[in-house]
Amino acid sequence: MEVIILPAAPDVGTGAAGIISRLVAGKPGAVLGLATGASVKRVYAELVLAHQNQALDFSRVTTFNLDEYAGLSPSHPASCHAFMEEHFLSRVNVDRRRVHLPPTEGDDLAGLCEQYERAIRAVGGIDLQLLGIGREGHLGFNEPTSSLASRTRIKTLTSATREANRGGFGDDEVPLHVVTMGIGTILEARHCLLVADGPAKADAVARMVEGPLTAMVPASALQLHPHATVIVDEAAAAGLSLRDYYREVQGNKPHWQR
Ligand code: GLP
Repeated sequence: MEVIILPAAPDVGTGAAGIISRLVAGKPGAVLGLATGASVKRVYAELVLAHQNQALDFSRVTTFNLDEYAGLSPSHPASCHAFMEEHFLSRVNVDRRRVHLPPTEGDDLAGLCEQYERAIRAVGGIDLQLLGIGREGHLGFNEPTSSLASRTRIKTLTSATREANRGGFGDDEVPLHVVTMGIGTILEARHCLLVADGPAKADAVARMVEGPLTAMVPASALQLHPHATVIVDEAAAAGLSLRDYYREVQGNKPHWQR
C-alpha cells in the first residue's frame, strides 16, 4: 500500500484528483469506480475545475458507483444518485449512457446485482476505484464482518453508519438496507485510491494500513491489493505508527516511480 500524507484536507482532494486527471488524460475511455461522502467532495470539485480550466474530457469515461440506499428514490437529496448529480455528473461532460449506479429496486434485486457485476466485466473492469473509509473501517457499505470475497449485493447497515449518515435525511429514517459493491469487486479494480481526512478517521486508517487483515475492518483487505494508494491528511494519519517512514518513502521516490 502506498501511503501519502499531506498537510490538510484540501491537499488530499487535490492529490487524488491529480491522479484521476492523469489517468483520464492518458486513457480517455477509462472506467472509473466512484464513491460518495464528505471525503470525496473535494476530489470532485477539483475534477470539475480540471474540466472547466484544462478541458479535461470525460465524454468517453465510464463510471460505476460503489453503493446506494435500497428503495430510496434517486431524487432524494441524501441518495448517492443526488450526490453524484450535484458534485460531479451535472458539472462535467460525462455521457449519461456510460454512467452506472447500483440497482436499488425491483423484485429480483439479487439478479440485478449480478447484472451490475456483469456490466463492470463487460467494459473490461474498473481502472481506478475511488474510495472513502467509514469510521469503523467500512469500504462502500461493506460493514464489519463483510466477506472479503463479497460481490455486489444487499447489505444491512450498522446503527453507527446510519447515525453517521443521518445528515441529508432530515425527518426521514436512514434506510436500513443498501446495495454495495463487494470487497471482492473492489479488489478487482486495477488501482484503488482511498482518501481520508480529519481526526475521526485516524483509528480506521491505522487499522486499515497497519492492523491485521480482518473482515472486522473491511478496508484492511486493501493490504491484499497490488496497487492501492491511500491519501490522508495529518489528522487522519495521526494513528499510523510508521508515518515517518511513509514520509521518507514519498520524499525519496526514484524518478521512475513518480
Ligand atoms: C459512507 C459511504 C462510504 C464512505 C463513508 C465515509 O458510508 N458508503 O463509501 O466512504 O461513508 O464517508 P465520509 O467521507 O462522509 O466520512
